[in-house]
Amino acid sequence: MNQSLSAIVQQLMASPKGLLAADESTKSCCKRFDTLKIACTDESRLQWRQLLCMSPNIELYISGVILYDETIRQQTDSGLTFAEALTKNGIIPGIKVDKGLVEMANFAPQTITEGLDGLAERLTEYYAMGARFTKWRSAFTIGVDLPSPAVVRANMAVMARYAAIVQAAGMVPIVEPEVIYDGDHSLAESGRATELVIKVLFEELAAMKVDLTGLILKTSMVLAGKDAADVSSPQQVADATLKVLNAAVPREVGGIVFLSGGQSPDQASNNLNAIGAIGTQPWPITYSYSRAVQEPALKIWHGNQNNIKKAQLKFAQLLARNSAARNGECA
Ligand code: 13P
Repeated sequence: MNQSLSAIVQQLMASPKGLLAADESTKSCCKRFDTLKIACTDESRLQWRQLLCMSPNIELYISGVILYDETIRQQTDSGLTFAEALTKNGIIPGIKVDKGLVEMANFAPQTITEGLDGLAERLTEYYAMGARFTKWRSAFTIGVDLPSPAVVRANMAVMARYAAIVQAAGMVPIVEPEVIYDGDHSLAESGRATELVIKVLFEELAAMKVDLTGLILKTSMVLAGKDAADVSSPQQVADATLKVLNAAVPREVGGIVFLSGGQSPDQASNNLNAIGAIGTQPWPITYSYSRAVQEPALKIWHGNQNNIKKAQLKFAQLLARNSAARNGECA
């Protein structure tokens, strides 16, 4: 066990906090700005990320922020970089290091995640900037005979290589095999796909000798697809998700965090609350949301600096709610 990696994990997983995912690529960030007709420029993205990361009191709820390459290089109004300002506030800066999804040859439209080339050099630079953890995401869509076993295996092998390289650089890897919520699949199909990808991931991590105590799994919850006839109830989501995690995740893993994946803010916190209410699990569990904590605040901000305080208030309320939810203590 690497003591310094597990110390970072423990700080990131400390109750009642969670992680903020603010690592949308420029393309994804612009897509969200466009729907609200907010101009998408270096400067507007800087202002938005600053609104989030410098919100009053977020250190009560947030232990770490996952940044994007553009953001970690930008300076806040305080004259400090984002990584410096977060660290000063007791929040650990992290960085998304994958280079996104491309169609996998012979399996399109299924995808594989790129970004291993030059990764060690990029990590040296990010470490010097203050980042102490990283994120890498793969995505799997459920369908007839999907995801293909070969696509799962190839993605998880690359993800395990990423995790080994990150630990060698003295940073904590977050491994994120996302099972996509879009679709009309059932709760049971979501459970099967999620269990398969997580099991293959841990086989590949073992093969790469990754230290599981110095690693965080970021996963989707198990729930019926967005277009399914039946919406899964929070109790169904909690039971199905914990069943899969207990079947597939080794007990040594340092922590588990959830993505929100297109669930509404209420759904994401109600489902997390039901999971938290079931009680202690072999690993600490919390949230690492982007959309479910950002979108209501983004609508209020709307690119207008007069709205910053109101947007920050909404953002802090959402964080407080999810921090309560991780312990099953939502009102
Ligand atoms: P969402 O919470 O919007 O799913 O984003 C989390 C994330 O980090 C996706 O990679």
